[in-house]
Amino acid sequence: MYLKELGIPYMGSKRKLAKKIVDEILNANPNTKYFYDLFGGGGAISFEALQRKKIKKVFYNELNTGVVELLRKIQKDGVTDEFFKWVDRETFNKHKNDNDWHGGLLKTCWSFGNNQKNYLFGREVEPLKKLAHEIVVYKNEKSLKELSKKIDLELPNKLLELDKTKARQLLQRIVKKAKNDRFELQQLEQLEQLERLERLERLERLEISNLSYDKVQIDTPIEETIIYLDPPYENTEEYQEGGFNHRKLEEWIARSPYKIYVSSYNFNLSKIASFEHRSTLSATANNKVYENLYCNKEHKDLTRLF
Ligand SMILES: C[S@@+](CC[C@H](N)C(=O)[O-])C[C@H]1O[C@@H](n2cnc3c(N)ncnc32)[C@H](O)[C@@H]1O
Repeated sequence: MYLKELGIPYMGSKRKLAKKIVDEILNANPNTKYFYDLFGGGGAISFEALQRKKIKKVFYNELNTGVVELLRKIQKDGVTDEFFKWVDRETFNKHKNDNDWHGGLLKTCWSFGNNQKNYLFGREVEPLKKLAHEIVVYKNEKSLKELSKKIDLELPNKLLELDKTKARQLLQRIVKKAKNDRFELQQLEQLEQLERLERLERLERLEISNLSYDKVQIDTPIEETIIYLDPPYENTEEYQEGGFNHRKLEEWIARSPYKIYVSSYNFNLSKIASFEHRSTLSATANNKVYENLYCNKEHKDLTRLF
């Protein structure tokens, strides 16, 4: 079975590791029917769990309201044309912290390195990226002529006939081939990120909440439930004012009767797996880091072996 790597573009996304993590958890817990992803972020783990037929329900929770509203909007209406509207620097700065789906869209798809704070493009390249966007999305002939002139490269009218993914790919190929990429047009990140949202088709069996992890009501049967936690890491960029209280989280885990898995570099529970990962949050030269998975109970049920 082919499973897709899904996820809203997100800082610290588990997209690249989601399959391995969910495999590890579900292989050890084949009775799992209910899966809670309490620090859901871009949803990579939730979407991976949703692709497993045995799982009846996935509970995605996230504190960031804009991101949650974005997911709710996609669940309700899908990715509509309004998602593909060009966003300039001023609009980004004015609306990035709005607690609605549009604010969530700006934070995730229009921020630099998905950092949720800074606008995606530098001042110099912004007008050129805009022209490219207008060609690919709006099929604007005037923009095609203008961009051709500005980058001194004849762009074909065919770009106006293709669907937006194909048009984006063709434009990127043309620029690459011409070795004429002073304005970084080979990278149209916002379009690639928006196309990523389009891949999130059916979000049935997904319950969405916008709470702090400790306020989520969990009442499904203990032996059929897994709680997965991917909390903000210590010593990495903060996702919220005032920092995150890891001690409080440890106490919450200690009080819970459920089987809980935690992704972290370092956590005060037994380590049950380790995954190599390239992280943009890492300071090491090749960005290579080991991310670990921890568990509060016996990971594998040893009695099943006999
Ligand atoms: C490491 S990220 C999760 C990334 C996610 N697994 C993914 O693949 O995209 C941690 C998330 O926890 C959220 N968060 C921080 N404090 C929280 C809290 N008290 N309750 C729930 N979520 C919280 C942050 O907004 C951030 O999105």
